[in-house]
Amino acid sequence: MVELDNEVAAVWKLIVEGHAKWLADKILTFNLTKESLLKELSKPTKSNKEIAFHTILKNRTFHGGILAPGSGILKHGENGKGITSRWYPRTIANRLLNIGDFSKKIDFRREDGLKVMQEFAKRDDVIFFIDPPYTAGGKKAGKRLYNHSMIDHERLFSICEEVKGDFLMTYDNADEVKILARKHGFQMRLIPMNNTHHAAMEELVIGRDLSWMDGFPSVHEPKANYRKLIKTRLKKGQKI
Ligand SMILES: C[S@@+](CC[C@H](N)C(=O)[O-])C[C@H]1O[C@@H](n2cnc3c(N)ncnc32)[C@H](O)[C@@H]1O
Repeated sequence: MVELDNEVAAVWKLIVEGHAKWLADKILTFNLTKESLLKELSKPTKSNKEIAFHTILKNRTFHGGILAPGSGILKHGENGKGITSRWYPRTIANRLLNIGDFSKKIDFRREDGLKVMQEFAKRDDVIFFIDPPYTAGGKKAGKRLYNHSMIDHERLFSICEEVKGDFLMTYDNADEVKILARKHGFQMRLIPMNNTHHAAMEELVIGRDLSWMDGFPSVHEPKANYRKLIKTRLKKGQKI
């Protein structure tokens, strides 16, 4: 797992260091009001744990979850519920605990993903999943979303062509992206998704051979009880 942004990285770092439960408890016990939010966010962040907690708070209460400068707290949000409209403490806590259960299997680095790809380029036992900022398209959607939005998309596609292992990329459905994919001889498929305004839109999936996707009319994330799954596998002495 590679991420450049300091705030997003703080959350991943906390999880891989085994503190997912700390963050989950912090979220579950936080009484979210406009006052409590402003008070909490005005506190200086000294530790990685504090940066991680502020990141989750901002991601859930700022417009579109945007951490980049210029964003602000939700005034109306979903159903006019303002800052609490995307604050589902139990769901967020469960997700953190689920990922926390796999923390020993995650190696996190706050680095340039392109550099890390090159480091593993010659390995045929490595698979890359790349979810880059969506800035190659005309909409420049990612530009206002992320602090680190500028990446060299042409270089990323070239590295994907060079790596020995397989890769899968997700992008916005933009002409510039499709031109790059065709130029590098990659396949593309469109998958439906909902954006932050709940509007149905399509996202591009890019890879070398995506014929395996043709059997799926649409992609859904199946509900899984990861904790139970891990416990059962551990009991049976299986690998998780
Ligand atoms: C579309 S988002 C992916 C979000 C991520 N998949 C998740 O679910 O949290 C793109 C992310 O790429 C990060 N990023 C931008 N340039 C990067 C780089 N050169 N190396 C690693 N991460 C980068 C941004 O900070 C942003 O969080």
